[in-house]
Amino acid sequence: MKRVPIVAGNWKMHKTPAEAVDFVSRLKSLLAEYSAVECVVIPPYVALPGVQAELEGTAIKVGAQDVHHEDKGAFTGCVAANMLVGLVEYVVIGHSETRQYLNVTDELVNKKVKQALKFGLKPIIALGENLEQRESGQAEKVCRSQLVAAFNEIPADALPNIVIAYEPIWAIGTGRNAEAGMVNDLLGGTIRGTLAELYGSQAAQAMRIQYGGSVKPANMVEYMSQPDIDGALVGGASLELDSFKDLVRLTLQAKA
Ligand code: PGA
Repeated sequence: MKRVPIVAGNWKMHKTPAEAVDFVSRLKSLLAEYSAVECVVIPPYVALPGVQAELEGTAIKVGAQDVHHEDKGAFTGCVAANMLVGLVEYVVIGHSETRQYLNVTDELVNKKVKQALKFGLKPIIALGENLEQRESGQAEKVCRSQLVAAFNEIPADALPNIVIAYEPIWAIGTGRNAEAGMVNDLLGGTIRGTLAELYGSQAAQAMRIQYGGSVKPANMVEYMSQPDIDGALVGGASLELDSFKDLVRLTLQAKA
């Protein structure tokens, strides 16, 4: 099954609107020759209008870092799905930092996925175990249960619009990246296996699954050479132009 690789740069709480626009204005020419890889930039909310305008007409997609699960209301500091319509194609849901600092539970992840789909936004569902769970042999079980919860009542026809990002918490921003063969086994076994149980093996094979956690140009080929890893969700290494370009270039090279 040929899946289009997808590399997404999650900028977290980095770059002002002006810095973000300046970055993508230069990124678009750097990435022009790698259009066989789907590229997504995920800036902070306030940078979205400028970034979207700057990337209009290019192949680079824009994503948001989160979305609220309700249509509207008294939710200070939150952003609703309809506010993102026209600004982004993707939205990250369930990133471990939102699970940890913003109390995003498995149940909320599922509600956010439904909400995003309702407004035509494509969820990038992030999941992964913490260090304690990894060391006690619970990683597969944790990923499976996060996955099942996220896909609760999600219809099969929504699957082509969803991306999964496996991000072991102990590997995020720590420089301690997960071994590529282990990641491939978990993606091909636990994650695709669970999706196959829920939706059938054809749908599971078609689904794109990224790895995230201390990905950088120096280890990109290792990950992208694995058959079940379809791209990466990258934090730190997506903040620099050359590094972002190299991540995409190396993905194309490894997947060619
Ligand atoms: P990192 O972050 O690449 O800086 O480890 C990954 C992520 O949180 O998506």
